[in-house]
Order: sequence, then structure tokens, then C-alpha cells
Amino acid sequence: MSGHLLHVKTIGNETDTEISIGNEITRSLPFYNFLNKTASRFALIADQNVAEKYGLQLAAELTAEGFEVHLLTFPEGEGHKIRSTKQDLEDQMLAKELGRGDGVIALGGGVTSDLAGFVASTYCRGVSLICIPTTLMGMVDASLGGKNGVNTNEGKNLIGSFHFPKAVFINPDFLKTLPKHEMRNGMAEIIKYGLIASKELFEMLEQGQKNIEELILRSCEIKKMVIESDPKEQGFRRILNFGHTIGHALEFASSFELSHGEAIAIGMMTEAYLSFKLGHLTFGVLEQMSIVFKQAGFRLKFPQLDRQQIRTAMSFDKKTIRSTPRMVLLKAVGQVERCNGNYCSSIEPALLEDGLNWMFKEFGSQ
Ligand SMILES: NC(=O)c1ccc[n+]([C@@H]2O[C@H](COP(=O)([O-])OP(=O)(O)OC[C@H]3O[C@@H](n4cnc5c(N)ncnc54)[C@H](O)[C@@H]3O)[C@@H](O)[C@H]2O)c1
Repeated sequence: MSGHLLHVKTIGNETDTEISIGNEITRSLPFYNFLNKTASRFALIADQNVAEKYGLQLAAELTAEGFEVHLLTFPEGEGHKIRSTKQDLEDQMLAKELGRGDGVIALGGGVTSDLAGFVASTYCRGVSLICIPTTLMGMVDASLGGKNGVNTNEGKNLIGSFHFPKAVFINPDFLKTLPKHEMRNGMAEIIKYGLIASKELFEMLEQGQKNIEELILRSCEIKKMVIESDPKEQGFRRILNFGHTIGHALEFASSFELSHGEAIAIGMMTEAYLSFKLGHLTFGVLEQMSIVFKQAGFRLKFPQLDRQQIRTAMSFDKKTIRSTPRMVLLKAVGQVERCNGNYCSSIEPALLEDGLNWMFKEFGSQ
């Protein structure tokens, strides 16, 4: 078994999280030892798909190791990341008489870690959380940062909390069964990490690096650095939002026909274009980005979309102030524009229209 261990520790003690990466890590002695020092009884939360593929087996293995494990499931998909699912999971935990000293293990993608993390943060006023991500998105992003939450009719992740996992165990073996489009959702975030924080990672991607464990490790190192600098998203952590102002708006305007990864990829291209128009970035970087996205299998195309819907969706972005969208801008590969310490800049209407025109011309389907 190969392996890597990272430690995320903040000065304000918001978190002290161990991240272990390696094939078979979820069958290793360090994994069992960690669980042992955390609790002896666990709610193992997974969506029904992941429960069938991996949850039943993991529950059996942990039971054989002497733990009391209750596998609790919910229907898969973003549509189930809602308050009623949280309540249902909590009711199941209450029925099993799990208490303050017991733990929650989130096994699955970002939907599961967001839901299970939120459950763990409020159950008995907070119990220990351990994450075992099974999607690339979960491994490089969703399970790492302590943010969790559920969606409501008004929007995504509007209700939630910060509750950092005690440990994250990343076993890249799980990715063998992950569909290609789900892999691309995670790849978009890995490319983003290179663009915002690591020229070296971006160059590895340009050279076609295929060692997924290496890419996961580099991504976790960057997310660790960002969390340690700004655990509660007061400023610097915004850099993780690069490409997401326009990307989320595209996802929304396409009624989620466009996958998260494709939408974020086009969002990054367009936000890089705006960085170029503002004089922060050379156009050559956009050409490099386009090559990297295409190499990674991105189509960089979106279906017929309504511009007004895109503008409206942007106005709901958490960085928007008084209807003016704000975006994270790039300065170079591996570097974001500081924008006076805000790490995002207001995009005036004329510039936004220029950006949207360019995006429709380059990536629109007509
Ligand atoms: N909290 C955060 O910091 C953060 C960051 C990024 C994303 N997110 C959230 O993450 C969610 C998206 O996460 P996701 O992309 O992992 O989606 P997901 O959790 O819905 O998983 C995608 C699909 O893959 C299936 N799946 C999971 N692992 C599998 C495996 N190994 N083999 C085969 N199928 C598998 C799932 O059953 C599901 O159908 C969104 O809700 C987003 O808001 C949160």
C-alpha cells in the first residue's frame, strides 16, 4: 500500500484533521486505530448506490473488527440533499440510540459528505465526523473543508454549518467504478487548483499526468493551505470560487443539463477572459487552459441558453453586492489577483456583456 498523510491544523483550532491517501487505506490498521480512538459505535451514512457498491461491505468489515456500525441510506442525487433527508437520517440515529460519544462516517460523494456533515454538526449538539469520499469531487474538495449543508427551493447550500471532519480517508480504488462524467466534475476542480495556486500542478496537467493519486495529493495540499489560511471563508478562501460565479449560473440556466464540471470549466475560461480584458492576464494562458480542458475530456460547449437567466443567476451568487457580480480573477497560472485583499473584483455591466458575448461565441451551441 502506498500512502500519504497530511494534517490540516488551524491557529484558531477550528480544525485538526488528518487526511490519509492510499489504495486500501480503508482496510488498514491506521484506519481501524483512528476509528477506535474516536468511538466504538458509528452511523455509516451513504446514498443507496454507494451503500450497495461499498457500504454493505465496509459495514461488514468494521463489524468484524468489533465496531457497532449502523448503515443508514438515502436515495442518491442532489435532489435529496434537503432538510427532510437530514431529519430522516437523524430519526434513524435516534432509533438506534446513538449518542454524544458516537460517530458519523460519511461514505460517498459530496452530496453525502454535505448531508452527513450537517447531521454530525447538530446531532446531540455535534458528534465526531469521519469522511470516506468515493467520488473524485469528494476526494479533492467536498469532504475536506468542513463546510456542509442542504439545498432549499431558494437555492443550493443555503442552510448548513461548519463542522470539520476529524479525519478523511481517501482510497483512490473507489474511482474504478465512478462514471466518466463524474470523474470530469472532480477534474475541473483539480485544474482549478493548478490555475489558482500551483503552476507546477498545472504543468503536470499540461504534460498529461495520469497518476490520479498524485493529482489528489497535490489538490489536497492546496486545499489544506487555503483552509489553514482562512478556515471560515473570511477572504482568501474565496479563491476556491474561481470559475464558479459564471459556472453556477450556467448550471442553473441550463436547468442542470450542463454538468457541474463542464459548467465550471466554461466559467473558468470566461472568468480568465475577463481577467485578460482587465489587463491582469495574458491571452496565452487562455489558450493553455483550453488545451488542458480538452485533454481532460471537456467539451467546452453549452446548450441553447437564455442570457437573462444567466445574469439573474449571477445576482444570487454569494459574492454579489448590490446586483454587481464579483469574480475571482487570475493574474497568471498559479496566481490569483489580490484585489485589495478581497480576492474578488466587481465586474461592471459593459465588461460583463463583453464576457458573455465572448462566451456565447466560443462555447455556445448555435
Ligand atoms: N462542502 C463543500 O466544500 C463542497 C465542495 C464541493 C462540492 N460540494 C457538494 O458536493 C456535491 C457534489 O458531489 P459529487 O459530485 O461527489 O456528487 P454525488 O455525491 O451526488 O455523487 C455523484 C454520483 O456518483 C455516485 N457514486 C459515488 N461514488 C461512486 C463510486 N465510487 N462509483 C460509482 N458511483 C459512485 C453517487 O451515488 C452519485 O450518483 C454538491 O452537492 C456540491 O454542492 C460541497
